Amino acid sequence: MSAHWLPSAGDVDGRAVGVACGTVSAVALLWWLRKGHSVKSEYYGRVRRRLDLERHRRQLLTQQLTAGGQLMTVRRQLIVELPLAQLIEQLQSGKITATEALRAYQAKALEVTQLYNCVTEFVLNADERAAALDALPESKRGPLHGVPISVKDSIDLEGFDSTLGLAKYLDRPAASNATLVQTLIDLGAVPFCKTNVPQTMLSFGCSNPVWGVTTNIRDPARVPGGSSGGEAVLVAAGGSPLGLGSDIGGSARVPALFSGCCGFKPTCGRVRYRGL
Ligand SMILES: *[C@@H]1O[C@H](CO)[C@@H](O)[C@H](O)[C@H]1NC(C)=O
Repeated sequence: MSAHWLPSAGDVDGRAVGVACGTVSAVALLWWLRKGHSVKSEYYGRVRRRLDLERHRRQLLTQQLTAGGQLMTVRRQLIVELPLAQLIEQLQSGKITATEALRAYQAKALEVTQLYNCVTEFVLNADERAAALDALPESKRGPLHGVPISVKDSIDLEGFDSTLGLAKYLDRPAASNATLVQTLIDLGAVPFCKTNVPQTMLSFGCSNPVWGVTTNIRDPARVPGGSSGGEAVLVAAGGSPLGLGSDIGGSARVPALFSGCCGFKPTCGRVRYRGL
């Protein structure tokens, strides 16, 4: 304020200026709060819509899988209990079809995620890919023919968001598959779900405001480890035969240890990072 703004007989005018300044700051504060509020409610809206969509997907999937019967049939239970090497062998020989393997793991993953909240999204059209694999002649079967795989949230899967647990990254679906995912698809694998991570991934916990909390298999009051926490829990609980995580400082190995499965970090430079 310059001096000539303040008349000498100034008390009243001084107060008027003070009131004006106060009003301006109050308006600015209100604008800022409202802006924050509208960003927040936009994010809440996005999260709510996505969780509704996922609930709907799971209902559909459950209906498809049960078709009046049970979710975990004896045959499905037998399939998910096979060690990976034997599952691969039976898929190769055609004793188990890609569709059967997929359905068995979808059913098991639905059960497991109800307990631990480790799956974020199910891939509904995975059965189209399994059916296409089943139509292949035996000579065209790849080494991972029909093996269902789960994919960590942060790894790009075409048509799905890599959210890192941030509402901001919802509704920005990946345009293509990460090189790692595409390589396994080309070998015959069938991605069937994405799994939870801690927000921004810089943590050995596994919760975020989009997908919620993934709990430890043995004690729901404890963390499952991170950042590939959803993967480790899903694999350890038998809901996926093979999961893709990522690991810089222990993000695959630590949750595997916390959950009771094997976490493997390939040699640096072995795996392409595109889409991770
Ligand atoms: C990427 O993965 C999705 C999901 O499995 C699949 O539908 C799509 O065909 C893949 N893209 C390519 C180029 O193979």
